[in-house]
Amino acid sequence: EHKPLTDTATATPVLPDAQTVTEVKHYTDRLFSFKVARPQSMRFRSGEFVMIGLMGEPNPKTGKAKPLLRAYSIASPSWDEELEFYSIKVPDGPLTSRLQHITPGDQIILRPKPVGTLVHDALIPGKRLWLFATGTGFAPFASLLREPQTYEDFDEIIITHTCREVGELTYGRDLIEALKEDELLAEVIGEGFWQKIKYYPTTTREESPKMGRITDLMNSGEAFKDLGVPQPTPETDRAMICGNLAFNLELKAMLENYGLEEGANSKPAHYVVEKAFLD
Ligand code: A2P
Repeated sequence: EHKPLTDTATATPVLPDAQTVTEVKHYTDRLFSFKVARPQSMRFRSGEFVMIGLMGEPNPKTGKAKPLLRAYSIASPSWDEELEFYSIKVPDGPLTSRLQHITPGDQIILRPKPVGTLVHDALIPGKRLWLFATGTGFAPFASLLREPQTYEDFDEIIITHTCREVGELTYGRDLIEALKEDELLAEVIGEGFWQKIKYYPTTTREESPKMGRITDLMNSGEAFKDLGVPQPTPETDRAMICGNLAFNLELKAMLENYGLEEGANSKPAHYVVEKAFLD
């Protein structure tokens, strides 16, 4: 007696490390965010990333499929019950061309081993924290901005976000606006929200109140004038960088020029860098 191969119990491939999608929000034709259930045992530090993805197409010869995974910063804070991610949609990207179609109830693969350098442990104490992002590089800062330790460790937090278009700023702006209503953070942020948190969004390819790359705006001194703060120094300033590769390299060189030194988990210093995911 043989059981038919179409038996659903055996024919349905089981995803390794499967997690259920609970929410999906689309911001522009290039950007979306989604949430998944958090594995009970998973712990992470705000600012870290994990590998997530979907099963790839089956190999035509063997019929076997392999997981297609990419590094994604966790955008939710470490105390949250769900995990949030913020993603680009690349039309011919192997993963995001498919991932952009997920809806609540779908399953994705999530390898529950968070790592990363955009963490408080990699910075030595300072007064002012700069968070420099382009595009989806805002994601780890979405986590850190909702983490009470960020406000306990620093007197002032400056978040710069450079995007091509105005619509790409929505996710970050909404998140920062929502911080004001956050009861958990109200205590640590205290009085004077906009003195403690300075938000500096800029666009490069669409008209907005502040145009230009943050790197150019800093080099000209315009950003410091707008923000009412001096150029960063190793005595007072700490920084985290997360954007596209060219941006990371340019900003890193600028910070080194100001005298800041790159830190790591094993050797905390003045600034840390991580590349935003690109499919
Ligand atoms: P630009 O439009 O002038 O290229 P992308 O979507 O390509 O990752 O870019 C996100 C944002 O980062 C864009 O506004 C882009 O500006 C900006 N950008 C790209 N490279 C750099 C760089 N080397 N320094 C500063 N900003 C950059």
